[in-house]
Amino acid sequence: MEIIQEYLPLFMRGAQYTILLSFTVVILSLPFGALLALARISNNKLLSSLARVYTEIIRGTPLLVQVYLVYFGLPMLGIYLEDFPSAVLAVTINSVAYMSEIMRSGIQSIDPGQTEAARALGLPQWVTFRKVIMPQAVKNILPAIGNEFAVLIKETSIVSVLGIKDLMFASDTVRGATYTTFTPLLFTALVYFIMVFTISTLMNLLEKRLAKSDR
Ligand code: ARG
Repeated sequence: MEIIQEYLPLFMRGAQYTILLSFTVVILSLPFGALLALARISNNKLLSSLARVYTEIIRGTPLLVQVYLVYFGLPMLGIYLEDFPSAVLAVTINSVAYMSEIMRSGIQSIDPGQTEAARALGLPQWVTFRKVIMPQAVKNILPAIGNEFAVLIKETSIVSVLGIKDLMFASDTVRGATYTTFTPLLFTALVYFIMVFTISTLMNLLEKRLAKSDR
């Protein structure tokens, strides 16, 4: 327990880093994920195939490999990034694929009859999308975005293998410095759990609020 007390500031700095990294990635993934989702559902065959290929490749390969590819690949191309930007870039490349699927399935879960009715009433396609489809789709999409944030809190622990100073890295550091394994790891798990549990509780509340406005 003294170990935790002694290294608490290190753990807290790590946790802050984890939150900042995950939050930055979620925010960046929103516009890019939306673009990718629109490309995916567009009538343009080439665009939608490209979007599909991107999503399948990203979701079909481990995040760990993607993170390594970005971290070691960029310098080979003559691009040198600091730790934080390269971690953000690597994880965003990954998260965008998941985010676009969240948005696509949110949009496609709306009954096509809604579009047909709106179009039959004479609403142009874009207005139908903005005023009829999106307000309903958002109810599925928002909670899933919160969930992606919670997933990222956990999954960003992977960047610690690159020496990026997130919560998991703090845990490893304390383990190395004190030759104790169990206590720092258990404490790390607890901190991750608190962060994720907080987000999922907030998301449950939001979901209830959104469902209420349906009735
Ligand atoms: N562990 C999975 C992988 O390595 C997680 C991918 C990240 N998931 C996400 N929703 N961004 O592929």
